[in-house]
Amino acid sequence: MKKLIAGSLSIALISSFAMDSAQAASKNKVTNVAHRGASGYAPENTIAAFDKAVQMGADYFEIDVQVSKDGKLVLIHDNTVNRTTNGKGFIGTKTLAELKQLDAGSWFNPSFQNEKIPTFEEVLDRYKGNKIGILIELKSPELYPGVEEKVAKALKDRNLDKPSNNKIIIQSFNHLSVQKSKQLLPNIPHGVLLYSKTPMSDDLSLKRFSQYADYYNPSKSSITKELVDKVHRYGMKVEPYTVRKSEEVDPLLQAGVDGIITDYPDFMYGKTKRK
Ligand code: G3P
Ligand code: CA
Repeated sequence: MKKLIAGSLSIALISSFAMDSAQAASKNKVTNVAHRGASGYAPENTIAAFDKAVQMGADYFEIDVQVSKDGKLVLIHDNTVNRTTNGKGFIGTKTLAELKQLDAGSWFNPSFQNEKIPTFEEVLDRYKGNKIGILIELKSPELYPGVEEKVAKALKDRNLDKPSNNKIIIQSFNHLSVQKSKQLLPNIPHGVLLYSKTPMSDDLSLKRFSQYADYYNPSKSSITKELVDKVHRYGMKVEPYTVRKSEEVDPLLQAGVDGIITDYPDFMYGKTKRK
């Protein structure tokens, strides 16, 4: 009998230790977000960059969503195609068929000449059910009235709007757009992006943000431990952008950030919060 009790006690102790370690590990885990895909290694906002993010073990990849002339959701960062394709002109003046003819890879390296501008739906279908999550940025939503509804529909059509879904996050620099999207998709976490020169962090702003946002994502240059602690007190997580040098990682972790948005997911290998 004594042996049985001692055995049960050891099992309980071991399980509780395992649980404490798991909780500690998850508490210290910092989310690794591949910015526009693993865009240090492949052309941004292309399938090559998203596949690379998966291969490199990132937790999420980030995408920029805009709208073509014929109302289709497409992934590209700038408001024109000039920098990242062989074309010229504004996204909103080109149909999806026109955008699809462009080479979205050669500007980065000739070996990527077959990369195309992906649609939002293509990417949801390709990575749905995959371990990797998607951080969706509504890019310049003021140029595309109704973009929030289109994004919400694409997610709902694929059952990606459920409360248990922790693999989709929506963010924007346009906070009215974030509020609108949160109303359409109340179960999906949302984030506010902050410009580096004006990271609104007064109590009134943080209180307002916390009513609809789960993430407060400022430029890496705004991060201090005081800012991170303050945002945490309002119940939001902090995932700064955009890390492009490995030495930028440790100071951000020491400040207590919850995730890091980086072009180089390997910079985060083996890193944990508050070392
Ligand atoms: O995810 C944050 C980051 O993408 C915001 O800046 O200009 O790269 O879209 P930008
Ligand atoms: Ca972005």
